[in-house]
Amino acid sequence: MTTSNDPHIHYTKDSGVFILQIDRPEKKNALTAGMYLALAEGVKAADSDSEVRVILLRGTADCFTSGNDVNDFVSTPEHNTERPSVAFMKAIAHARKPLIAAVNGLAIGIGTTMLMHCDLVYAAKDSFLQLPFTRLGLCPEAGSSFLTPSIMGHQRASELLLLGDRFSATKAAQYGLVNEALEATEVFPYALGKARELAALPGEAVQTSKHLLKRNQSEAIDETIALELVNFSRLLQSPEAQAIMQAFLARKKT
Ligand code: COA
Repeated sequence: MTTSNDPHIHYTKDSGVFILQIDRPEKKNALTAGMYLALAEGVKAADSDSEVRVILLRGTADCFTSGNDVNDFVSTPEHNTERPSVAFMKAIAHARKPLIAAVNGLAIGIGTTMLMHCDLVYAAKDSFLQLPFTRLGLCPEAGSSFLTPSIMGHQRASELLLLGDRFSATKAAQYGLVNEALEATEVFPYALGKARELAALPGEAVQTSKHLLKRNQSEAIDETIALELVNFSRLLQSPEAQAIMQAFLARKKT
């Protein structure tokens, strides 16, 4: 089996299920460039492994991910298509095999936008999600300016993407972003059960069905990611966004 090149990303194969785990709890599973690359490579390896039928994304017991590592936003504010985060976005956007997410604790920024590329999402009732881009002086990424309104409609998407407040998994389920909000301890076993169920079905039929479900979105997602990147990069380099990032990083030192 392919091995992960990052110590904070683990690959496990459970029958036909490829489990990708984010494991950096001391930093709330914030994603670095190396972690994005390992995630992207994991998705691609799973997609081309004939033994794998389903990909399952998870974090740790009390955290999915707090999103992009803010240190990277400060050290490398210029974003372009070469970035590891974009490789990850493209990998999940174009995965042929079903993607399932098991969310505990919190899912912020790309922690929430990656769920929009998943086919089934299970989250803990006590978890929260957040699309905080405007609060950080930024704009949506990972195709979320296209996917959020297509999942839940314009007004709900505007509520989440313009105001940027935290929202519960229960609300996310009402808005169509989460399939089921469950007790925290049930989330991973339940998601794994669904993954095994899906893995036991005829693979070609499942993958063809996924392709048919997503075929109209593929081009629009790529175009959106490209357009978002130009704007995200411009905003990230603004004094306003940089001041917000610096304030977060300074906060921990006081
Ligand atoms: N990038 C870098 N470091 C992060 C991080 C992130 N996205 N999220 C958390 N951390 C770090 C904290 O700096 C802290 O590090 P320290 O122990 O060295 O000081 C550690 O993880 C624990 O986080 P802390 O803030 O103390 O925990 P909390 O429970 O009080 O708050 C969050 C958790 C996730 C709500 C808060 O850390 C947060 O707002 N993080 C930033 C989220 C964000 O803006 N992500 C970018 C989205 S585009």
